Amino acid sequence: MRFKLAAALAIPAFLAGCETIPEDDAAWTSPAQGLLLAEDRCSSCHAVRQTGVSPNEDATEFAEIADLGMSEEALAAWLTDSHNFPADMGFALSDREARALAAHITHLRGGE
Ligand code: HEC
Repeated sequence: MRFKLAAALAIPAFLAGCETIPEDDAAWTSPAQGLLLAEDRCSSCHAVRQTGVSPNEDATEFAEIADLGMSEEALAAWLTDSHNFPADMGFALSDREARALAAHITHLRGGE
């Protein structure tokens, strides 16, 4: 009986813990959130909007990255694996940040 009680107590706590995640995720991974992050974290080197030239001439414009045609998932995965970054980009992103940035960048595709 003791084991059953423990299991019954564990379930509501688990569900309560999950409840808040989807809403936050939707807000956090939207292209708009990605643009805010990009302005904050990337725009010192990259042009992060549809038009413009990167302040760092070696940093690819985000609109051009969009046109490489990577899927949002592939781009997010690339961004979370900091080993892939060029040496200039010495920073780490959380999964959510990477997904928001990937959403923003792929949103620029095709002049949207
Ligand atoms: C300190 C300058 C700097 C910052 C800040 C920076 N980058 Fe970069 N990034 C670069 C440079 C330089 C390259 C090109 C490296 C190369 O071609 O070898 C690059 C390349 C990239 C590429 C690959 C493009 C390609 O053509 O292969 C992606 C994607 C990228 N950056 C995303 C980001 C994101 C997202 C952020 C913000 C979270 C960011 N970068 C912040 C300098 C920067």
